[in-house]
Amino acid sequence: MQNNLSPKTVAESAVENHTYKIFPNDLNSYGTAFGGMIMAICDRVALVVAERHSKKTCVTASIDSVHFLQPAGQGDILLFKAAINHAWNTSMEIGVRVEAEHYVTGEKRHILSAYFTFVALDEKKKPIEVAKVLAQSPIEKRRFQEAIDRREIRIRDAKERKKKRSVPL
Ligand SMILES: CC(C)(COP(=O)(O)OP(=O)(O)OC[C@H]1O[C@@H](n2cnc3c(N)ncnc32)[C@H](O)[C@@H]1OP(=O)(O)O)[C@@H](O)C(=O)NCCC(=O)NCCS
Repeated sequence: MQNNLSPKTVAESAVENHTYKIFPNDLNSYGTAFGGMIMAICDRVALVVAERHSKKTCVTASIDSVHFLQPAGQGDILLFKAAINHAWNTSMEIGVRVEAEHYVTGEKRHILSAYFTFVALDEKKKPIEVAKVLAQSPIEKRRFQEAIDRREIRIRDAKERKKKRSVPL
């Protein structure tokens, strides 16, 4: 019998194809999909992955490497894919990829990728340990390795921010 801390595969928590149809109320003044709306869906989809993996309530700790590569337009269908890249003690990195599919031609364009870090919390809202990730395929193994470098950068940046905050204005 598996418990919450038994290592889990990437497939156990992945979101394969969450779809969202873009309507006129999703557009910015320029007439393309509003980036904040897309980010909010990414955050939710990534949260589902983190909570499926950890079986705990999770909060977004940080988002990095957000790149809007191309705009999406009215009528496009947004396709969201999210998967866990790595889990450490209480935090997990989830990668999200968004494509826009043209509803007539079916053509797909990669419009956004981002990495979300979630922290699992216990009943007292304190960080709590999460299961490790079993990276199996070559892609999963590559993402697992690359996540280690990003975490180092996040930890270094967090230390820098802390240092700056301790300097009186
Ligand atoms: C995220 C949060 C729980 C971390 O709490 P904390 O007291 O800093 O916890 P710790 O220093 O013990 O770190 C806990 C984990 O969070 C990670 N973490 C903390 N700040 C982070 C950041 N900015 N980016 C990435 N990871 C971070 C740590 O690396 C650590 O991971 P590990 O246990 O796997 O090594 C806390 O900062 C928080 O509640 N932030 C607000 C979250 C929120 O409201 N999100 C938006 C709405 S959902």
